[in-house]
Amino acid sequence: MQALVYHGPGRKDWETTADPGILAPTDAIVRIDSSTICGTDLHILKGDVPEVQPGTVLGHEAVGTVIETGSAVTTLGEGDRVLVSCITSCGRCRFCKEGHYGLCTGGGGWIFGHLINGLQAEYARVPFADTSVYKVPDTLTDEQVLFLADILPTAYEVGVLNGKVDAGDTVAVVGAGPIGLAAIMTARLYTPARVIALDLADARLEKAREFGADVTINNGREDAVAVVQELTEGLGADVAIEAVGVPETFELCTELVRPGGHVANVGVHGHSATLHLETLWIKDVTITTGLVDTFTTPRLLDLIAGGRLDPTPFATHRFGLSDTLAAYETFAAAGETNALKVVLEGEYAVRSPQAKREAVSV
Ligand SMILES: NC(=O)c1ccc[n+]([C@@H]2O[C@H](COP(=O)([O-])OP(=O)(O)OC[C@H]3O[C@@H](n4cnc5c(N)ncnc54)[C@H](O)[C@@H]3O)[C@@H](O)[C@H]2O)c1
Ligand SMILES: [Zn+2]
Ligand SMILES: [Zn+2]
Repeated sequence: MQALVYHGPGRKDWETTADPGILAPTDAIVRIDSSTICGTDLHILKGDVPEVQPGTVLGHEAVGTVIETGSAVTTLGEGDRVLVSCITSCGRCRFCKEGHYGLCTGGGGWIFGHLINGLQAEYARVPFADTSVYKVPDTLTDEQVLFLADILPTAYEVGVLNGKVDAGDTVAVVGAGPIGLAAIMTARLYTPARVIALDLADARLEKAREFGADVTINNGREDAVAVVQELTEGLGADVAIEAVGVPETFELCTELVRPGGHVANVGVHGHSATLHLETLWIKDVTITTGLVDTFTTPRLLDLIAGGRLDPTPFATHRFGLSDTLAAYETFAAAGETNALKVVLEGEYAVRSPQAKREAVSV
């Protein structure tokens, strides 16, 4: 098969590599119909994730079709169309039993394109298939569900749910990249009074308005704390969601939040940030951190099927799967290309329910 193979920092290629096969009876082999690239893949290519061994196929987000199942797989069969998510669940360890699949100690967690071959490929081996993939309703296209593989559950679980967003809240989202925009989209499910988006890039703030932000602040030019206080009668935001991953934005969130409010950190941090307990100790604030578990994926799928959530605006660019290298260039140059998510479409990508029938009959 052809796949995007990592060859160490700064080096990757779209090349011929071994077809995946069943290694454990709980495995399934999935033909990748649509895949996408994540900011984490760019981190891997910079060498920031040293566990990723040269020779690994990258990618951890896809929609595909089951073509083979191991002898212990009982709920999936050939032809089933499935969402393959960034998190795999063994279904048996303590964390999986509590719904904390991201922390799986039984061989799951974030493994695709990290510890095992990933999903920017024509085919993939999917471990623990019964407990890790989600069947896609016939009525939905690949692009409607593809972003449930990472950004939507991440922003919803680690941002909106950890932050306890509620009706009437003022929600400040710092960082309007794909994760921040997904936080804006899923925060709106709770009817907040207002969503305020903060970013340094005006183009991202424009996107934030398209995704439902009521107010935008360029915190490079404006005094964000003063603007948020003015909007909230001097109190501050009920919830501040950190969706960047640098010390300044974490510290900014702790200044934006009102007494008694929540700071939900989503960003992946590479440097230590200062926790200003000298001002926070008296404010009754709750600060949460987290890795996505994807326990909300079925709920988000229902919201999409019910017409209440539409993640398709995240798809800003489309490429054939074999043009994955060009897709990486476009995605990595988001400042110039305005890319949010680039969709990699295989030969059988489902763009309409009609296409679904053709894909499965092959
Ligand atoms: N916790 C998890 O499970 C999890 C999962 C996936 C991604 N993440 C993390 O979430 C974060 C956001 O991901 P993304 O894909 O949206 O990233 P991104 O880089 O595409 O977007 C980040 C945005 O932050 C803005 N920004 C940068 N510095 C800023 C500053 N000082 N103030 C305001 N805005 C600033 C950028 O202009 C950009 O629009 C990353 O740190 C990523 O690693 C966490
Ligand atoms: Zn990702
Ligand atoms: Zn587990």
